[in-house]
Amino acid sequence: MDPNLLTLIKLCLIFAVNALMARGLSDSDADPSFTQRPRLLHCNHSLLLLEMERCGEQFTADMNHIHPEDRCNLTHFIREYHVFSLCTEINAGRIGCFWPNPQVERFIIRVHRHFFSNCTLERLAFTDPPDDTLILLILIPVFLTLAMVALVVWCSKRSDILA
Ligand SMILES: *[C@@H]1O[C@H](CO)[C@@H](O)[C@H](O)[C@H]1NC(C)=O
Ligand SMILES: *[C@@H]1O[C@H](CO)[C@@H](O)[C@H](O)[C@H]1NC(C)=O
Ligand SMILES: *[C@@H]1O[C@H](CO)[C@@H](O)[C@H](O)[C@H]1NC(C)=O
Repeated sequence: MDPNLLTLIKLCLIFAVNALMARGLSDSDADPSFTQRPRLLHCNHSLLLLEMERCGEQFTADMNHIHPEDRCNLTHFIREYHVFSLCTEINAGRIGCFWPNPQVERFIIRVHRHFFSNCTLERLAFTDPPDDTLILLILIPVFLTLAMVALVVWCSKRSDILA
């Protein structure tokens, strides 16, 4: 298989794991006081786009620090990519938008196309990221989700007691 295709698949996998975690979290969120909280802020889509552009600019700046020959090497840009993914997630949440959402996904696909469309087989600057990096990237959202679920359960127990 084209190694760069493999890179993209891995990136999509990381993104999908994050997305599933976020979605699973909002589904398991049975406590009405929690589900209503994000809706206090209405998602402003033009503001969301501005925030995503800011994450994109930061990612562009970070990628520019990487030597052009290493820009298709996952080992070199995985950290920057993770910061970018986190930036879109945190800022969408901060302004009351769900993450992921179609607008954010479209934006991220555009960024992928911009940065990784040049990654060709001849340049072959691909190696697996060190396994511990990949495991860490996958485990962080898992632990965050477990912590959030524990928090939700704890809070709903508390409100039962208080009610
Ligand atoms: C949405 O955000 C934009 C940009 O900050 C702002 O100009 C606009 O007034 C906001 N719209 C609403 C409905 O809050
Ligand atoms: C992709 O390649 C073209 C032509 O070589 C170049 O002009 C462009 O800057 C490259 N894009 C990136 C993101 O490296
Ligand atoms: C990718 O980067 C790593 C770390 O610098 C390096 O060991 C590896 O050889 C690079 N892969 C390619 C194909 O250049």
